[in-house]
Amino acid sequence: MNAHDSEKVIGTLLREGYRQVETPERANYIFYNTCSIRDKAEQKVFNRLQQFKRDAGKGKVFAVLGCVAQQEGEKIFDRAPHVSLVAGSASYTKLPQMLVQLETGNRRVTGLSLDTEETFDTPYTRRDNPHRAYITIIEGCDKSCAYCVVPFTRGPERSRTSASVMEEAKRLADTGYSEIQLLGQNVNSYHDPSPARWDFATLLDRVGSIPGIRRVRFTTSHPRDFVKPIIEAIDSNPNLCNHVHLPVQSGSSRVLERMDRLYTRDEYMERIAWMKDARRPIAITTDIIIGFPGETEADFEQTLRLLDEVQYDSLFSFKYSPRPNTAALKLPDQVAEEEKTRRIMILQERQRAIQIRRNSALIGEVEQVMVEGRHESLGQWIGRTSQNRTLNFAGRDTEDLIGKYADVLVTRAGPNSLVGEAAIN
Ligand code: 5AD
Ligand code: SF4
Repeated sequence: MNAHDSEKVIGTLLREGYRQVETPERANYIFYNTCSIRDKAEQKVFNRLQQFKRDAGKGKVFAVLGCVAQQEGEKIFDRAPHVSLVAGSASYTKLPQMLVQLETGNRRVTGLSLDTEETFDTPYTRRDNPHRAYITIIEGCDKSCAYCVVPFTRGPERSRTSASVMEEAKRLADTGYSEIQLLGQNVNSYHDPSPARWDFATLLDRVGSIPGIRRVRFTTSHPRDFVKPIIEAIDSNPNLCNHVHLPVQSGSSRVLERMDRLYTRDEYMERIAWMKDARRPIAITTDIIIGFPGETEADFEQTLRLLDEVQYDSLFSFKYSPRPNTAALKLPDQVAEEEKTRRIMILQERQRAIQIRRNSALIGEVEQVMVEGRHESLGQWIGRTSQNRTLNFAGRDTEDLIGKYADVLVTRAGPNSLVGEAAIN
């Protein structure tokens, strides 16, 4: 989402006649897009800002964008006086006007309002990848998970109209994109604000039915709002990738309650069962937070058992990190850093074994990949399967396959990727 925000900012500025340069040294303006989801994000931002100033500072205008900008606001001017512009993601359409204010002599400009209706009017996105495009369908979040800073930095939930999503997707298909990734903090909370009233499953299916679109992905989903029609759409439309990222955060209902996640372990497992019962093999991935305040050894063991039960294809695990403004800051029983480290290592080891087993089971299968790049030194194309696995492969060296689709025979498997050979059709 953060990467896509940068694409929107670049597109908006190119449209105004600004030009992108390769290095900070050659820039007149430096825009620093920030994320504050975990770790000591604020501190890192201030350190980086100091470093920019030392390395490339003279006579340049500095802008801080994104979630740290939204969170810290005007405090940024105090701690980094060389910064002139601070703006959160809901204000990017106003960047051109903000720059005019700076150019006409204002010393400091901010864009920190969160209630703007115009969040989606960034039609001038400059996309980094010519084959796979992100489309934001919903911004912000109305949930209030106790650890999470997003509702404070990205504001309330706002869905975009289905017509404008379809118009953008069709335009992308016409210009050669074949893969679309629908983005939102909670894509499955999508509610079409127009009279068409499409739900998320309908939107997914319709985007996947646009001529020229061969793959549709979506991220990220909240278990509470994850409904069966989404699986039915995946089952009936092969252009929808058979991969669901469904963050669980913890395998203990007690911890989930303290996190205010709005579902129990059993309710989560019910969604998993729907996916396992689907006609297509759906890859399932997740996010897990280790060491949330009050997490006991028994809670942690429940998370390990959840891994065994679900058999995830991949997961992201994070040590809990306290974030400003969040409810979890005030919870007792914070878990010691060394204990978080110990638990996360056990979890990652357990998952690694699962992935080796699951990936090995694919040896001998033919998978279709979209070719994303090339490792020249290895003589391999870099491919991605519908289930979102990396599958690197040899063969078809005389063609330029990037952006194309290829059938690949899987010959080897590791914990994080597969290796294969172009299949002879
Ligand atoms: N500490 C650790 N992990 C976090 N995440 C979000 N907030 C925190 C936090 N304060 C993780 C969650 C989420 C993912 C994007 O980041 O697992 O799903
Ligand atoms: Fe954060 Fe929870 Fe909203 Fe996800 S659903 S963005 S974790 S508050």
